[in-house]
Amino acid sequence: MKAELKTETKQSRFFGLPKNVKQDPAPRLISLFSGCGGLDLGFRQAGFESVWANDFDSDAQAVYSLNLGDIDKRDIKTVRENEIPDGEVLTAGFPCQPFSNAGNRKCVHDARGLLYKECLRIIKSKMVQVIVFENVRGILSTKYTDGRNLTTVIKEYLSKIVSIGYNVVCQLVNSVDYGVPQNRHRVFFVGVGKDLDKRYKFPEKKDKNNLTLKTILKVSQNALNHVHWNLAPQAREMLRHIPQGGSWKDVPYETLAPRFKKIRDNMRKYHSPNLYRRFSLDEISGTITASAQPENCGIVHPTEDRRYTIREIARIQTFPDEFKFITDSTREITAMYKVIGNAVPVTLAKVIAMSIMKQVFQQ
Ligand SMILES: C[S@@+](CC[C@H](N)C(=O)[O-])C[C@H]1O[C@@H](n2cnc3c(N)ncnc32)[C@H](O)[C@@H]1O
Repeated sequence: MKAELKTETKQSRFFGLPKNVKQDPAPRLISLFSGCGGLDLGFRQAGFESVWANDFDSDAQAVYSLNLGDIDKRDIKTVRENEIPDGEVLTAGFPCQPFSNAGNRKCVHDARGLLYKECLRIIKSKMVQVIVFENVRGILSTKYTDGRNLTTVIKEYLSKIVSIGYNVVCQLVNSVDYGVPQNRHRVFFVGVGKDLDKRYKFPEKKDKNNLTLKTILKVSQNALNHVHWNLAPQAREMLRHIPQGGSWKDVPYETLAPRFKKIRDNMRKYHSPNLYRRFSLDEISGTITASAQPENCGIVHPTEDRRYTIREIARIQTFPDEFKFITDSTREITAMYKVIGNAVPVTLAKVIAMSIMKQVFQQ
């Protein structure tokens, strides 16, 4: 289980560590389902050294390599364990669609729901000291084929995996409790090799100062990637009626499109959806999602009748302003909303990574 820490550190390009947090030797990070690198950047900021990252989505790969260096581009199912370098920590935000409320809930019957087994296969071979899994809240109510909760099944697998196994703690966290200007609930599993005789403790919650949209949306006009994806004319028309802090409920019935009238006519049947949520400057943002649709997330600016720009959602997801996204003609702008919406907020990743560093690697 105990992999020796390497004595040399090789930090990659732009987003290495400030010198003062550099741990020597740095624990090495194996990152699966890396996306555009939100989780990886947070771990680097906390002093870990990335040794391998993987994602099969070309948009995620392009952003990752632009900012963070090499990424293996294969489907994880085709990667053999001996092709992955050794490391002390393995992270995996395995795909969330099967568990998300926005998608279907077929979960473990859906092939994507089985991708956590790829993580187990690699953990078994690499015998890392710490594992971190991240997923959407829906995983908590997802059942395995035999009726048990999927989280219980994953914890049991990890507890018994390899000869020693992991002490696993699983917790629902809200990013806003850790300095992120966004209410975003996600489930984290953190497992520490049983031979280290430790049980991970999630960090104390922080205060919520300076997290409202008023502070976050102060972006200079010439900031990088400060461009937005245009709304459809019908959506813009609806926004004219929606004040800060409002939603589609503020739109007069007679101006609604037929599909919205149908919902308004039978709100109980449709569970009173809060479509077109428009947060006010004095509120904290709701969850930034990959689809960036005003119907299902607060993606519109409080005072301007448009979607947030790429830089604005990057800020809400706590990417530094120097982190580059691709907003030229080589990629669809929708792809950038997708990779940012899929990411773990960098600051949340950093807080969790720092606590792992302290509890496991600095004692
Ligand atoms: C929720 S996102 C991860 C975001 C990442 N943790 C971050 O912080 O930016 C899940 C990622 O898994 C990738 N993925 C899904 N199935 C995969 C597979 N079979 N092989 C490799 N990557 C896969 C998707 O392309 C997506 O980028």
